[in-house]
Amino acid sequence: MEAVWESARILANSRLAVAFKGAGISAESGIPTFRGKDGLWSRFDPRDLATPEAFNRDPRLVWEWYSWRIERVLAAKPNKAHRLLARLEDSGVLKAVITQNVDGLHRRAGSRRVLELHGNVLRARCTRCGSKLEWREKPSNLPPSCPRCGGVLRPDVVWFGEPLDTSILEEAFGLARRSDVMIIIGTSGAVDPAGLLPLAAKESGATLINVNPEPNRYSGVADIELRMRAVEFAERLSRALGIDV
Ligand code: OAD
Repeated sequence: MEAVWESARILANSRLAVAFKGAGISAESGIPTFRGKDGLWSRFDPRDLATPEAFNRDPRLVWEWYSWRIERVLAAKPNKAHRLLARLEDSGVLKAVITQNVDGLHRRAGSRRVLELHGNVLRARCTRCGSKLEWREKPSNLPPSCPRCGGVLRPDVVWFGEPLDTSILEEAFGLARRSDVMIIIGTSGAVDPAGLLPLAAKESGATLINVNPEPNRYSGVADIELRMRAVEFAERLSRALGIDV
C-alpha cells in the first residue's frame, strides 16, 4: 500500500497516537530551522546566544537575537501541518503533541495537549522573582525588566547546558512509552533528551512514522519513512483520512 495511505490506516486504528516534532514543521510558516544550510546554527553560534553563560556575559545581545525571533514568530501563521495535528486531536486520533519548538504555533492552530519541551520564546521569566509574562509585541527596552520586581527578564526557553522541566519530560516519556503510534515530523533528532523519545516509544513497541524531506536520526529505525515536507504530508494524509485542514 502507498506509504501515506498505510500511515492513515495505522493512525485510524491506533489506540494512543502521539506526535513528536521539531523545527521542520514550522519551516513552511517562515520560521528558520536550526541545522542545515539555512539553519540558525549555520549563521549564529549557539554558545554566544543560547547558553546561561552567554546571557550572564551579554544579556542585551542575547535579547536582541530573541527579540528578532519573537518578531518572526508573531508574524508567522500556523500551516496545514499544525492544523492537521489539531484536527487529529479533535477527532480523538491524536492524544498529544510533544514539541521541541518554541514558537507556540500548535496552540494557535488549536492543539490542546501540547508539551513544550524547550519552552516558548513568547514567554519571559524573571531571573529574580520567577514571575512570567507573555509578549504580544517584541520587547522594546533591552534587556527588558520585570514589571513586578524590576529584576532582569530572560526568555522562558531551555538553553544549552540547562535541564528540561522534569514534569514535562516525565509526561513526555510516559506518553512515548504508552503510545502505539508516534508520528515524527521535521526534526533532526540531534538534541537529547528530547531526541530519545522516539527511541523509547519504539522500544515499547510503538510504530514510528517519520516525516522529513531528509534522512535523520530515526531513518532506519522508523517503520514508515515519508520523505516529504510537513505541508505535503498534511495535505496527503488529510485527503486519505477525509478531513479538512
Ligand atoms: P533541526 O534544525 O535540527 O532539524 C530540522 C529538521 O527539519 C531537519 O531534519 C530537516 O530535514 C527537517 N525539515 C526541513 N524543512 C522541513 C519541512 N518543510 N517539513 C518537514 N521537515 C523539514 O531542528 P530540531 O530537530 O527541532 O534546541 O532541533 C532540535 C533542537 O535543537 C531544537 O529544539 C533546539 C535546537 O538547538 C533548543 O532550543 C534547546
